[in-house]
Amino acid sequence: MIDLHTHILPGMDDGSRDVSESLAMLEASAAQGVGLVAATPHFYAEENSPERFLSRRAEAAQRLRAALRPGLPELRLGAEVHYFEGMARSEWADALCLEGTGLLLLEMPFAPWTERMLQEVRELQNRPGLTVVLAHVERYCRWQNKKTWVELLNWGVLNQCNATCFLQWRTRRAALELLRAGRVHFLGSDCHNMDARPPRLGEAMLRLTAGDRDILLKCWRRFLPEWKEAVR
Ligand SMILES: [Fe+2]
Repeated sequence: MIDLHTHILPGMDDGSRDVSESLAMLEASAAQGVGLVAATPHFYAEENSPERFLSRRAEAAQRLRAALRPGLPELRLGAEVHYFEGMARSEWADALCLEGTGLLLLEMPFAPWTERMLQEVRELQNRPGLTVVLAHVERYCRWQNKKTWVELLNWGVLNQCNATCFLQWRTRRAALELLRAGRVHFLGSDCHNMDARPPRLGEAMLRLTAGDRDILLKCWRRFLPEWKEAVR
């Protein structure tokens, strides 16, 4: 399994506080059968220059990789990029994609999206070799209308859903509907720590039917060929 969305790098954001917490999160992921973890710390353009973000991320990854033990999931670097105006023309968009792929994990505002915002997403999506993946898609549903979702899918924008949605009775039915309607392409734990927001991707996968799991496996193979070794 691939966990596409985590805050597992030590000291980067509001996720893991230190290397030992990161290791505990990786151990919990491995125990659930996760073979590859994308480390996707928050990137806020208003607070961080891309240069500074990337150098902090490299430093945090180096500290974690130095402490990795055999049997833990592989680590790939990425970012959860918060929407900002001008992102489609940013010279840094490619550097913020998931390592070795053209997938950019994008967090949109929790409010109705304006035409301007959608246009920005479309321009980003149209960059050669880049595919937008909306982070925790389930969180935006109540603010957007059906037309917006149809448009986004038509543009080729992909969606990531948080694994915990499939574990909580309040959100489970809606998450299953999204998955079966072809509107979920990836799951991510969006884990931040070991207490309030631990990794639960494997747990969620176990709660899916074989058919539902198959939808996700097909998406991983189709949209993440670069990481296919870990998907086997
Ligand atoms: Fe996140």
